[in-house]
Amino acid sequence: MSESRNKLRGSVAAERASQHCIMPGCGAAFGIRERIYVCSCCGGPLEIDAGVDGPRTASELRQKWEARGGAQSGPDRSGVWRYRELLPFEEDAPVVTLFEGNTPLYDAPRCAEYSGLRALRLKHQGCNPTGSFKDTGMTVAVTQALALGARTVVCASTGNTSASLAAYAARAGLQCAIVLPQGQISAAKLAQAMDYGAAIFEIDGNFDHAMRLVQELAEEDSIYLVNSINPFRIEGQKTVAFELMQQCRWVVPGHVVVPGGNLGNSSALGKGFEELRAAGLIDRLPKLHIVQAEGAAPLAREFARLQAAGERKHKPHAGHGASDSLLPEGIQFVEHPRTLASAIKIGAPISWRKGLRAVLRSGGQVLTVSEQEIADAKATIGRDGVGCEPASATTVAAIRKMTADGQIGRDDSVVAILTGHILKDTDYVSHYHRGTLSIEGEGGEKKLIAASFRNVPVSVPATKQAVLESLRRRRE
Ligand code: F0G
Repeated sequence: MSESRNKLRGSVAAERASQHCIMPGCGAAFGIRERIYVCSCCGGPLEIDAGVDGPRTASELRQKWEARGGAQSGPDRSGVWRYRELLPFEEDAPVVTLFEGNTPLYDAPRCAEYSGLRALRLKHQGCNPTGSFKDTGMTVAVTQALALGARTVVCASTGNTSASLAAYAARAGLQCAIVLPQGQISAAKLAQAMDYGAAIFEIDGNFDHAMRLVQELAEEDSIYLVNSINPFRIEGQKTVAFELMQQCRWVVPGHVVVPGGNLGNSSALGKGFEELRAAGLIDRLPKLHIVQAEGAAPLAREFARLQAAGERKHKPHAGHGASDSLLPEGIQFVEHPRTLASAIKIGAPISWRKGLRAVLRSGGQVLTVSEQEIADAKATIGRDGVGCEPASATTVAAIRKMTADGQIGRDDSVVAILTGHILKDTDYVSHYHRGTLSIEGEGGEKKLIAASFRNVPVSVPATKQAVLESLRRRRE
């Protein structure tokens, strides 16, 4: 990496920025270069207050961000650092970038029809350098690791975080250690981490066990933890809301739908939209909906409990106090999470509080979808020529459900956030289309997923006639 080429220029927010505890009754504040992950007073989650740089007008920010859009090099080319007025770094900070962000917003007519909508847009975060949304957070977390003088960066992962960290650590020249649940990571994601040179540790346990282990490792001074418990990850990922709104010409969609695993991404989107509103760039929040797989849905279960208890009588935009007061002390985790969407196979999400807070503040929902619904939605996204990994498809499956029960109207404007690239998990794709995709039930029995949109290769004699004949049959 050429540091001189990647130095930030232009005013940035570091001087005014701070880290603070989000727990009501605590709110302790810390310096932006303190190496902490949770509040050192009460152990609560930390959030960064980026502090907008000077009295800017919304149109000034808008113009600056638009002008940087065409850059061919340096931080302006990054779809994260382009928004540096709202990022907590000093002028001339050397940034570690692979020119992340800049991801497309697609119209998806087949998905719209499948979901019962007139139109549906897909923001494809799988088009990032390592094929997932993690890169937008990792560029910021690894830049902070360098600023703190860390020697080793570490994460637990269901695959994408580790692939992303391995790449950014390689760019930064930092040692990278990743801890993975053995046998539960897609081969493609593991292969990425191997190629990027990470030290890979496979444990006999699930993601939640791996997460506990890396938190212990991060007690060492030289080791820096970059899972989404680290608020700098969230700072990078929040810029997706900025880029999305720029692509929407600042017209706020009615609904934004995102998969939920460890719940960093939903937290980040919520924060991004709130900052845009605070800066006067948008005048309201879209409803943020989080989707979990039925077998790995601790937050959805909690949300349903809150709803059943009739506690959601607040007005969504009545101010944060009203909705934040509904946040429970804790939630019940899922001990043995089960889903074929391995990226979100998480029973004890570390950022549940921030994720739930974002949903409540926006007036959104947390809901679940079945393995069959995920698989069919994924194939439909494929038919739009877009494609994604299974976890991402929870979004379209959930939109279909919400449209069917009237929570989303046919003419509403809806954006689904696709989080990972189709090539992240090709085993899943092949098994689905061949009709061999299955998941183990709670009693150990095998449950087959129906290949509703089956599409398999056919063997034909090597003749023009045979191919034409086969094509004709497919058209019938
Ligand atoms: N989609 C994909 C493709 C993911 O890889 C993840 C998380 C999520 C959605 C959920 O996002 O955790 O912010 O709620 N993957 C993490 C990992 C856990 O280790 O790669 P989240």
